[in-house]
Amino acid sequence: MTGARPSACAAVGAVRSNGLVSSAFHRLDVELDLPFDFLPGQFAMINEAGPRAWTFSRPFSILAAEDGVLSILYRVVGRGTAALAALGPGAALQVLGPLGEPFPTPQADRAAVLLGGGVGLPPVFAWLQRWGRPGDHAFFGARDGGEVPWDLLGDRWRVSVDRGEGLPGGRTAFTGVVTALAASAPDLPSHGSATVYACGPGPLLRAAADLARRRGWTCWVSLEEHMGCGYGVCKGCVVQVADDGRIRNATCCFEGPVFDATRLPDLGSPAPVPHAASGDIPPGSCGGAP
Ligand SMILES: Cc1cc2nc3c(=O)[nH]c(=O)nc-3n(C[C@H](O)[C@H](O)[C@H](O)COP(=O)(O)OP(=O)(O)OC[C@H]3O[C@@H](n4cnc5c(N)ncnc54)[C@H](O)[C@@H]3O)c2cc1C
Ligand code: FES
Repeated sequence: MTGARPSACAAVGAVRSNGLVSSAFHRLDVELDLPFDFLPGQFAMINEAGPRAWTFSRPFSILAAEDGVLSILYRVVGRGTAALAALGPGAALQVLGPLGEPFPTPQADRAAVLLGGGVGLPPVFAWLQRWGRPGDHAFFGARDGGEVPWDLLGDRWRVSVDRGEGLPGGRTAFTGVVTALAASAPDLPSHGSATVYACGPGPLLRAAADLARRRGWTCWVSLEEHMGCGYGVCKGCVVQVADDGRIRNATCCFEGPVFDATRLPDLGSPAPVPHAASGDIPPGSCGGAP
């Protein structure tokens, strides 16, 4: 469903550029010493190299990887991301990746509905860059207009903001949450023939799963759990998934970060019950569409 996954590699890189692309988002471009490929939805574990290395590498979704240059988009939230933001050109980084399960590739009979919130943009942005077709729909939500990386998004993305402040001249945005923008878009399929690909904070993912359930769309979400190792060993990223009527623990880094929303009880999916008793919602779909 996702095509052959590129092999992960441990690369060393040097910062090519690192700076703000909006009031809150930094873009980091790193030149790597090895060829690097990825599938949209995969991530990399990043750390400083040498004696400055942090105890734990930090996970970041891959925005792009072209001609040996890996790009990520990040928000400063703590010590690791603050240290990252302080790096100038030439600074050395360790990169482990690509890691994790990517988003599925497009289905011919279904439009894609891409929903990105804040720094959940990279995986859905990469999906549109790699697989996007003219009939797909892209929505991005930010806290305010200043936070939106307008130049990166171009004209293809419809934008929502929680607060209407900070909109640059000539730019327009829906005021409200990104799922409300998508739900009100008149050109989206009303039932059954779309697939949602979403990444962002928990409330966005729950609203995305709910929208998909109501419309009978398939729904894939990318989770951003706290991670230690990034490859299935430390068990620091466990999430609950429902399989065959049972709830079990799964490592987000190895089995995810992309999951079918119907497997995630945390997203308000129906409690898992044996298929025969589950009415018209078979496991493995988001609302019953095959
Ligand atoms: C698969 C994956 C992809 C990600 N992609 C991106 C991305 O593209 N861009 C980006 O900016 N961030 C992304 N993140 C989140 C990023 O890894 C964290 O923001 C980063 O590790 C924080 O490190 P820190 O040392 O700055 O913050 P810390 O000092 O570790 O934490 C600071 C604060 O942020 C919270 N926090 C830390 N990590 C997370 C997390 N994963 N989710 C929610 N809250 C957290 C902490 O609880 C604390 O309140 C991703 C996470 C995962 C698992
Ligand atoms: S981060 Fe270590 S098992 Fe997932």
